[in-house]
Amino acid sequence: MINIFKQPLAALLVSCLITMTVSANTTDNKTDNTTDHKNDNVIASTLVKASQIAVNITEDSFSCIRDMTPVRHFYVDNLLGDVDATLAAANAPEGAIYPVGSVVQLVPTEVMVKREAGTFPATGDWEFFELQVDEKGSTIAKRGFVDVNNRFGGNCFTCHAPAREPWDFICESDHGCEPIPIDHAMTGALQRSDPRCGESVAESGDWLALLKLKTMVFIGLTKKWLEE
Ligand code: HEC
Repeated sequence: MINIFKQPLAALLVSCLITMTVSANTTDNKTDNTTDHKNDNVIASTLVKASQIAVNITEDSFSCIRDMTPVRHFYVDNLLGDVDATLAAANAPEGAIYPVGSVVQLVPTEVMVKREAGTFPATGDWEFFELQVDEKGSTIAKRGFVDVNNRFGGNCFTCHAPAREPWDFICESDHGCEPIPIDHAMTGALQRSDPRCGESVAESGDWLALLKLKTMVFIGLTKKWLEE
């Protein structure tokens, strides 16, 4: 019963919006009125929302970190193709809400993906992933919203929450999150040695950075093991 009404109604809504867009464009050509431009934008974004594709995430969604677009010391992408909108948010000087489909990575094994609006308001619709990566590709070890912990038992959401406003949960070095003991020499070395990329493009100093990191990981995991 409900479905019978829903589909024609949705079709009617979409065709109404298309008609309105066409007529707004026509008025635009004649008058070049700024109000019409505004209407245009509202209608265009409504249309995008009406047809918004679900962000479908599988292991194949993730690959070589260096194939993504670099921003300062991290990488971004957009699973729906709008990497320019993701870049605009990442480069907004006062912070911005990242668009749906955005992928953000600092190290090969930890990923944030912006899901459809309203999916999980507490995390700003970010889904957190912990991956396992090797030459063959990525395996999703853990995924979720508030209950994903990294391999040291730290909760992704809890650590990123202080950067909620105005940075949309992106910590970087100075957005209010508690600092992590992994510096950018180490994250850079991890990016340059992502096994999914083929040949490593190591720089001088990477070897030492990775050795320090491995020692820290070893100590961290031993501590965790002793606590348990
Ligand atoms: C102990 C706190 C902590 C935990 C736990 C943590 N993060 Fe972060 N994360 C940070 C901080 C701080 C940065 C920024 C580091 C920098 O660039 O100096 C960061 C950076 C990132 C970035 C790059 C964008 C940004 O926010 O700067 C991503 C993506 C990310 N983390 C994902 C995750 C995921 C996924 C998990 C869980 C599997 C996780 N993090 C767990 C604190 C944490």
